Amino acid sequence: MTIVLAHRGASGTKPENTMEAFIAAERAGADGIELDVQLTSDGEIVVIHDTTVDRTTNGSGLVKDFTRSSLQNLKANHHFKHYFKKACKIPTLIEVFDWMQGNECLCNIELKNNIFSYEELEEKVAALIYKYSYEKRIIISSFNHLSLQKMIEICPAVETAPLYNHYLYKPWEYASTLQASGIHPKLKIITNDLIKTTMEFGIHVRPYTINKRRDMKRLFQLNCSAIITDFPEKAVKLKKVL
Ligand code: G3P
Ligand code: CA
Repeated sequence: MTIVLAHRGASGTKPENTMEAFIAAERAGADGIELDVQLTSDGEIVVIHDTTVDRTTNGSGLVKDFTRSSLQNLKANHHFKHYFKKACKIPTLIEVFDWMQGNECLCNIELKNNIFSYEELEEKVAALIYKYSYEKRIIISSFNHLSLQKMIEICPAVETAPLYNHYLYKPWEYASTLQASGIHPKLKIITNDLIKTTMEFGIHVRPYTINKRRDMKRLFQLNCSAIITDFPEKAVKLKKVL
């Protein structure tokens, strides 16, 4: 059964990586959410995609130079393309984990440390997962495969998957070498055969970002482990009628 993971929440219709987007995804029936984490200057894990706040908020500058409280004073829906009356803020990972206590959502945490390496990001994320006993509800991914390896060592009970956007020879072997349980490839670099073979080796395949109906349909019919989409509502509705 293919599960639906909402990319940065229901980011096609709500401001990305905000509680509003995560709540909308859960209400739409998504099995889980995907989000991006970085560290503030005072060491808080915050949920934001870019290394700067410029694209998504009314502020300017590097995420790593903000304190948690100054970051949370910014409007996270400032540049959102659709009308969105309510002011949204950048959530902390703790706020997301608190919200998850009231539902059964899975959470794919992407360690956004492929540009800046955040000191002890892996340890901080692992400590929080254990504190909330979310070992079975979290999937960790990253484009930084060294960081992913570190996560696998300190948090072996949690599912992990390398993100990648270029051709990879025998990705199931690569995942096994890393001791990761899955792969998160960009859609355009994988074929049906590659998905099938990888899954036959017991490695989960969760491609991103699947927004077109025809791609969703193909992956559902292949029984791919998951799809990562900006439009969870559309995916959930389609899955029901297939
Ligand atoms: O998890 C898939 C996807 O989130 C990776 O790319 O740039 O949207 O974080 P990006
Ligand atoms: Ca991401």
